[in-house]
Amino acid sequence: MKTDETDWKANWICSGLVGGPGSSVPAPLMRRPFDLAGEVKSATLHITALGLYQCSLNGELVGDAVLAPGFTDTRKRVHYQRYEVGQLLKPGANVIGVVLGDGWHCGFLATGPRQTHGDRPELLAQLEIELADGRTEILITDESWQWRAGPIVSNDIFQGESHDARLEVAGWDTPDGPAEGWQAVEVREEKSIAISRSPAPPIRRQEELSGKEIHAEGWMRIYDLSQNFSGRVRIRVKAPRGTHLKIRHAEMLQEDGKLYTENLRGAACMDQYTARGDENGETWEPLFTFHGFRYVEVFGVKDGCTCEVTGVVLNSDMPETGTFSCSNPLLNQLWSNIRWGMKSNFLDVPTDCPQRDERMGWTGDAQVFARTAASLMDVKGFFDKWLMDMRDAQLPSGAIPNVIPNVGNFEFRDDAGPAWADAAVIVPWTMYICYGEKSVLENHYGCMKAYMEYVEGHRLKDHVRSHPDVHEWGGFGDWLAVEKNATTPKDLIGTALHANNADIMAQVASLLGRDDDAGRWKALHKEMVAAFRRRFVTGDGLVMGGTQTAYVLALKFGLLPEDLRRNAIHELVKHIQKNGNHIATGFVGTPYILDVLEEGGRLDMAYTLLEQESFPSWLFPVKNGATTIWERWDGWTPEKGFQDAGMNSFNHYAYGAVGAWMMRSVAGIDLDPSMPGFAHILFRPRPGGSLTHAEASLETPHGSASIRWERKSGKVQTTVRVPEGARATFFPAPEAGMDTRDIGPGEHTFAWQGDG
Ligand code: BGC
Repeated sequence: MKTDETDWKANWICSGLVGGPGSSVPAPLMRRPFDLAGEVKSATLHITALGLYQCSLNGELVGDAVLAPGFTDTRKRVHYQRYEVGQLLKPGANVIGVVLGDGWHCGFLATGPRQTHGDRPELLAQLEIELADGRTEILITDESWQWRAGPIVSNDIFQGESHDARLEVAGWDTPDGPAEGWQAVEVREEKSIAISRSPAPPIRRQEELSGKEIHAEGWMRIYDLSQNFSGRVRIRVKAPRGTHLKIRHAEMLQEDGKLYTENLRGAACMDQYTARGDENGETWEPLFTFHGFRYVEVFGVKDGCTCEVTGVVLNSDMPETGTFSCSNPLLNQLWSNIRWGMKSNFLDVPTDCPQRDERMGWTGDAQVFARTAASLMDVKGFFDKWLMDMRDAQLPSGAIPNVIPNVGNFEFRDDAGPAWADAAVIVPWTMYICYGEKSVLENHYGCMKAYMEYVEGHRLKDHVRSHPDVHEWGGFGDWLAVEKNATTPKDLIGTALHANNADIMAQVASLLGRDDDAGRWKALHKEMVAAFRRRFVTGDGLVMGGTQTAYVLALKFGLLPEDLRRNAIHELVKHIQKNGNHIATGFVGTPYILDVLEEGGRLDMAYTLLEQESFPSWLFPVKNGATTIWERWDGWTPEKGFQDAGMNSFNHYAYGAVGAWMMRSVAGIDLDPSMPGFAHILFRPRPGGSLTHAEASLETPHGSASIRWERKSGKVQTTVRVPEGARATFFPAPEAGMDTRDIGPGEHTFAWQGDG
């Protein structure tokens, strides 16, 4: 077994603990005592697991990654981590210890049972040691390792973790631990899965939130962490030995002040702790689970016991790169909700939601949000990893499945359909224009091309994609749109999105010097545009379906003849007005609607939608106390209460896709796709709505860019900062009557007359 860095000599090993499809077993402690014949110069540990692991050397934790080795389809690939551990070793007796959890390998996965990828967790580790005298030693996982059951009685990402502190084995991972009670591990057969280094940062603890007790009733306490997030709680309890605590998690409270957990569906999200009974109290945080929540209920706090709760925020450790603020505090809260929605759903995979029995890498959601994600954090490595997962998941036909990693129980259709499967084209392109590195396109080109060929071969009729004659499955449509009496036709969405795919592919192919392909995609693009016009556009510029999304897609992807664009904008605005100045788009139209209005000369309407406070709108949840983005515009309304619990997440980032427009147009930091990676920064502030100022900063690959504009005494004044390594152009608002200006590194200030 060879990987890029290591010649693996280690074997996959496991314990004898096996659960069933519905029942879990304790997490095994695995260990191997070993002697070193002298001082250690250096030591490198390569380690991974099918499942999850936490490794320690002589009782000291190795690294600070959480939920390692992360989420991949373990039938195809697992990532390993590499740690320099020389300082944890010493001459004489040493012990390496590993706790193994079920994780995404053998725990409950999506709506399916346990054990879909394997019956129990397995470990692979190789420790290479160089002694001070030059001798080398290598320690591998093999039959010489031992296991025993540990204090983690059960663990599961959806169900939660149960820890009985009375079963802790003192010193088990040190030379002083018990020599008795261990059994020999099983050595598993060699596997043909890929073992690779992840390009993504690991999941780490990010910050802590202190829990405020808001309710106490008998042995029950409810705590508010003040923020919906992904992670878990650390509890500090003082309680007699054997006290059993049940810790439940929820995003919302019911009217009676108790936890609202119906929307968690099949995920119990309950941790349990049985106390050791330490006189001075004891602290516990689960190891192999996470929850999406704001509220915590602890049951079992008997009279005389105390319990403190701290939220531990977990997400992929991506540097934060973007900031935004403006004069409307509700928009600032919206930005914060977008950020927390992202943090909560970027745990090694871009997931739809972090709470219910789903938490999958839904392609559509990721595609819709990718540009916004890059406006908040450095997501390059994160998406490089996910695109790797996508290549693993692509079907032999070229089709892209619904969720990536393709865990198996969302395989009800092989093709995720328009806007979902198109993540294969849109995400690498977005990463390319945001970070400027061609490698993402080079690495993914084979996948993109095979996918394009799949659509062409299986999903088009007369260049209409999702044509109802071709297949009954037309895609998810404009998912969760709340239009009354109208839906956007699936073949319209399909054709529009595929025209966009062809356009992107033509650019990608020419960038990669594949001129033949470029010609082919260009021709396809022309055909798709023609088909769109033929089938969906009237001579007056009306677009079939008549929905906001129908107009938005036609306009955004340049599918209308020039002379009909004005009409289409007019129709779109009319539609919005008829809805009382409300948005009516779902996942597909939402990311583009404000762009389209702005480009069509209706910045006023874009701001009206952005600042709309009544349902449906971005600010409606904000006004109702949301701290993350809701899955549905009407997840909760005062009139109807909670939406259908079968699908009602309060932490779904998709509608947060508006963040890209806030960065690009409200504040005004944009990029030039022809000089990708912000090599040419476009400062394009578009003051509007109620705003009297806005500002943003973005850590670009070329350095830090920032902007601040302010409306004061009839003037708009803007100050921008261009980083050393970039060039920039300033585009004043059209009403300024000023020319665009090319500017170099440093600070620049511009002013024009404007309403103030
Ligand atoms: C997920 C989505 C996803 C959708 C597809 C849902 O269950 O939560 O966000 O895109 O299914 O229809």
